[in-house]
Amino acid sequence: MRYPRGVAIVAVFNQKGGVGKTTTALNLLAAIGQRGQRPLAIDLDPQCHLSHVFGVHPRTAEDSIYSFFTRQRPLADIAQITKSGAILLPAHLELAKLDTMLGKGVNVVTRLRVALHEPGALPGPAVIDCCPLLNVLSLNAIFAADLLLVPVSADFLSLKGAEQVERALNALEPVFKRRLPRRYLLTRYDARRRMTAEVEGRMREVLRAEEVCVTRIRENVKLAESPSMEVDIFRHAPGSRGALDYAALYEELLGAGFLR
Ligand SMILES: Nc1ncnc2c1ncn2[C@@H]1O[C@H](COP(=O)(O)OP(=O)(O)OP(=O)(O)O)[C@@H](O)[C@H]1O
Ligand SMILES: [Mg+2]
Repeated sequence: MRYPRGVAIVAVFNQKGGVGKTTTALNLLAAIGQRGQRPLAIDLDPQCHLSHVFGVHPRTAEDSIYSFFTRQRPLADIAQITKSGAILLPAHLELAKLDTMLGKGVNVVTRLRVALHEPGALPGPAVIDCCPLLNVLSLNAIFAADLLLVPVSADFLSLKGAEQVERALNALEPVFKRRLPRRYLLTRYDARRRMTAEVEGRMREVLRAEEVCVTRIRENVKLAESPSMEVDIFRHAPGSRGALDYAALYEELLGAGFLR
């Protein structure tokens, strides 16, 4: 199916924890919003970090995307408009139960994709914040996505995590019958550290160099501060390196045709 202009689905995924997925989802959504589009934020992590940064705390699982997965509640009934003007499908701790409840059948892992392809489902580009597991929620994100954006923080264990993601995505290729579009994004980049340069060099060897983003997200304390104030980097510190880097990421993805 063809999307209307301006619409695309980006899943921010890495099985490794703490690599910058939520930071990337939050600030990519903000960059999209700044260009005048209304982004759709989808929180598929039982930790609910993205929902919390938006100041949204669903009281029960029923008020979250959990009810979409358990009883096909329409996404429009779950959606909330955030202070920054994004549309949010919030998470709840009970999402952690879905693996045992739903299994991983084809009908289950394509459920989000089908719903997002309904006419009028996407107000603008969608960004999905995944949890650090390849579970039924992450599979839903992968099946729905036009682009998998894989943050990799600049250390050796994260590099191992990226290789694991690459293997997992390649294992899914026979199902998709094509190479899933993906970009690896180096985060917490610090040019003064030798390890950063080593990890970056290795990334280009073990992954396809053209699938590594040119943009790097530098280590920036403003990026770490902004979630505690429930704002994105552009509102918290518009002149910071974090804001510059996430604006550059938006431009790179736009230029590569992943955001329309
Ligand atoms: N470029 C950066 N500079 C400084 N701190 C950063 C940067 N990116 C992320 N952080 C910080 O690193 C920590 C982990 O980031 P984040 O929560 O985005 O990772 P995650 O991959 O979503 O984690 P999880 O797997 O638990 O969902 C957070 O405290 C965040 O503020
Ligand atoms: Mg996260």
